[in-house]
Amino acid sequence: MSKTTLKTLLAMKKNSEKISCLTCYDASFAQRLNTAGIDLLLVGDSLGMVLQGHESTLPVMMEQMVYHTACVSAGNDRAMIMVDMPFMSYCSATLAMKNATQLMQAGAHIVKLEGGRWLAPTIQQLTQQGIPVCVHLGLTPQSINTLSKYQLQGKEPKQAKQIIDDACNLTISGANMILLECVPQSVGKAVSKAVDVPVIGIGAGPSTDAQVLVLHDMLGITPGRQARFVKNFLAGQDCIENAIKAYVQAVKNGTFPAPEHCFN
Ligand code: KIV
Repeated sequence: MSKTTLKTLLAMKKNSEKISCLTCYDASFAQRLNTAGIDLLLVGDSLGMVLQGHESTLPVMMEQMVYHTACVSAGNDRAMIMVDMPFMSYCSATLAMKNATQLMQAGAHIVKLEGGRWLAPTIQQLTQQGIPVCVHLGLTPQSINTLSKYQLQGKEPKQAKQIIDDACNLTISGANMILLECVPQSVGKAVSKAVDVPVIGIGAGPSTDAQVLVLHDMLGITPGRQARFVKNFLAGQDCIENAIKAYVQAVKNGTFPAPEHCFN
């Protein structure tokens, strides 16, 4: 099977073929996810919460992202690898260039940055130098201290418009993908229609081009009450590999996310 690239994902969007994505932090899971047919692996800074036990993603360091990227890359076969730039690692375009270079050299194929229109010059510089960029909009966990709570974003029409405008403007600036977290399904649909690049959703409804979940959430490992958009795919399966296959299949055939996983 050929390697998944940006071109592959663009063609999938064009052909209305759903794209599957899960977070991944090590080589063993990278192998399992490849065997299950996943398209995109996200080395998310959620590793600060699920692997390191922190309350937020803020304590995650650049060198830790580089380490986990190298681990995932070692176990990867054909999936595309997206890597989060951690908190404050892209607060200037110059710093972003330096840190994104380290992630690309460790095995990333695209980097992900959280934010809005202020990212435009950084996106321009990164993409002009051959570093593809995904912009994370909606609920941006690195801003938890400004947001106060992990909760639905874009519910008010003005806020929804801002998310849609940011997605359009940042795509014009060069962004190669958009990730939308925890927004009404109408916003997920509007952004996916408005931009030509693939839109990945987590709690953004069924109309986005791709779906992503945190691996430990969809395997039922994460303790406590789960977000509305999470589904435990290990329930009813006899092994991890079948749970991941069930997720990939549910994304591909559009049965995940179901209405109970979406926000109106
Ligand atoms: O860090 C992460 O795992 C993420 C997902 C929540 C999309 O950004």
